[in-house]
Amino acid sequence: MREAIEQIARSAGAMLLDAVEQGITVHEKDGIGNFVTDCDEAVQRFLQRELKAVWPEAAFVGEEDGKDACRSQGACFIVDPIDGTTNFIRSLGSSVVSIGLVENGVPKIGVVYNPFSGELFSAERGRGAALNGSPIHVSGRPLKNALVSFGMTSYQRDLTVRMFRTLQALFEHCEDFRSFGSAALDICRVAAGRLDAYLELRLHPWDYAGASCILLEAGGRITTAEGGTLPFDATASVLAANGACYEEALAICLNNADNA
Ligand code: IPD
Ligand code: CA
Ligand code: CA
Repeated sequence: MREAIEQIARSAGAMLLDAVEQGITVHEKDGIGNFVTDCDEAVQRFLQRELKAVWPEAAFVGEEDGKDACRSQGACFIVDPIDGTTNFIRSLGSSVVSIGLVENGVPKIGVVYNPFSGELFSAERGRGAALNGSPIHVSGRPLKNALVSFGMTSYQRDLTVRMFRTLQALFEHCEDFRSFGSAALDICRVAAGRLDAYLELRLHPWDYAGASCILLEAGGRITTAEGGTLPFDATASVLAANGACYEEALAICLNNADNA
């Protein structure tokens, strides 16, 4: 099944490249700087049709169908047709198709494909994680040497003060920051040891369903920023890290939470 999903992600990625060549139509969504393109919607329709053929009984949740998240029981495909839509609109080359298969709340398969770089991250629970077929693993860097990426939850700004407070504290304990605009891709970059941690205070399951499986299979840790189990039926804060910096990064998140 993993191979079939990988092939579907590659075909979906080709749709992003075609859309760039033919021109992208952009519409606004709720919130600040929150956009959707005709391509997001077309790719989601394609994914729904193709994934249904792979496993007809599995439920399907995608960002563009307006549902919040999948039910906690049974099998569910959770997809983001384009994670990094702003990057896509601005030709920043850092947008992915993300597919997660979750069963009874546990990530079973994850596939994240960046058609602009040709990099396909994938994993299956218990069978390891790979980048273009070669095994990947998180780094062993402690927080003091860590390159930490983050997202600002910019569509809704209610978490901004807490986020800047947390980032300031993190910055005093890590090597440097990056921010690339695709949560799914950044979590995969942690899985590949290119980054060492990723933090965002509110994401939807479609942002992390695929990448969480990849990170766990690459030996990393991923929880809410409060240290809880990541839900796939609700929005959540997300802390993703290698094992060497997770505990220290979590302590900093907890010390800077609103109720600390
Ligand atoms: C967004 C990206 C971004 C993150 C936002 C997400 P979208 O997804 O992952 O990096 O900071 O919170 O909503 O809108 O490009 O699919
Ligand atoms: Ca997203
Ligand atoms: Ca999206």
